[in-house]
Amino acid sequence: MEHAGVCTECEGCKSELGAILSSVCGCKIVSLETVVNAVRNGADTVEKVGEMTGAGTGVDEETGETCGKCKGLIQNIIDLGR
Ligand code: FES
Repeated sequence: MEHAGVCTECEGCKSELGAILSSVCGCKIVSLETVVNAVRNGADTVEKVGEMTGAGTGVDEETGETCGKCKGLIQNIIDLGR
């Protein structure tokens, strides 16, 4: 926890931490709830979730390379949500 840059002592930081942890895609700041809703609304592939929410479509501004490191997580959510 010390390395996350947030303390766990006060409620303010805790809610902040919750927001960080519940964000599926750090690049696009897409929450777990948003991805789950997209899956419920018919997004059954990582690509469709990306189209609907932007999750998984992050691009590194410096290198121009696509990130996609959250795609495995998105796939898991799709598998669980079906
Ligand atoms: S964390 Fe989702 S595209 Fe980078």
